[in-house]
Amino acid sequence: MSIKEGRVAIVTGAGQGIGEGVAKRLAQAGAYVVVADIKEETAQKVVDEIVAAGGVAIAVAGDCGMKADADRIVQTAVDKWGTVDILVNNAGINRDAIFYKMTEQQWDDVIRVNLKSCFLMTQACYWPMRNQKYGRIISMSSSACRGNVGQANYASTKAAIIAFSNTIAMENAKHGITSNVICPGAIDTPMARSVPAETLESWKKSQPTGRLGTVDDIAEMVLYFASEEASYTTGQHIWVDGAMQTGLKG
Ligand SMILES: NC(=O)c1ccc[n+]([C@@H]2O[C@H](COP(=O)([O-])OP(=O)(O)OC[C@H]3O[C@@H](n4cnc5c(N)ncnc54)[C@H](O)[C@@H]3O)[C@@H](O)[C@H]2O)c1
Repeated sequence: MSIKEGRVAIVTGAGQGIGEGVAKRLAQAGAYVVVADIKEETAQKVVDEIVAAGGVAIAVAGDCGMKADADRIVQTAVDKWGTVDILVNNAGINRDAIFYKMTEQQWDDVIRVNLKSCFLMTQACYWPMRNQKYGRIISMSSSACRGNVGQANYASTKAAIIAFSNTIAMENAKHGITSNVICPGAIDTPMARSVPAETLESWKKSQPTGRLGTVDDIAEMVLYFASEEASYTTGQHIWVDGAMQTGLKG
């Protein structure tokens, strides 16, 4: 698996957790990385660590669920390095509530940040990728994409991301643009650690592996989809979940 030195990658939600691990792994593989996050400070910290390790990266603060910010994130990459080759739609939030108590605000916030951001960021990257006949789009779904108690909003976005990504793959295979999805299981990140301790413990116990996944487990899968060699792998979604949902998967 390889990434040509200087491929330009944008990773959303890269200030911590999975996005941080993905940004660092892509930079280590030779990509020039835009670390995009709504939190400027954490994005800059990740950039400092990438640069200290010998990589190339810049931080761009913005809300990737807002069109003006999504456009600005992509334009910054184009202005700096001339194009965008790899887009990782990773930013996501959860606003959990049992369905009958879920507020309209909780619904709208999660749909906007998790799903609309994929539309906005992918569309902003479209022409640079289409013009050069090369693009790698990787979007973060979840094992919750089949439905999950307390997550009607979140699960809906994660299912929709698969349909969205498949459509991009089908429309753009002839243009050299691939589009794939990763469905992580329970991964040890600040998001996972935000659930009650007993829930986290029960997740661990219910895992066939007996452990949570790591950020590196996901970053390696992103690296494959982002690689030069993965040109015929498109329209796929892969479960990186330690067999957590095996038997339920369609
Ligand atoms: N951790 C898990 O167990 C798990 C499991 C399945 C899927 N996922 C998915 O993986 C992705 C990353 O999850 P994580 O656990 O690393 O989350 P996290 O909460 O630890 O990190 C998410 C990052 O996204 C940023 N962010 C939030 N809203 C944003 C916005 N509007 N624009 C730009 N950046 C924004 C946050 O500031 C944060 O740095 C998410 O899409 C999540 O749904 C996570």
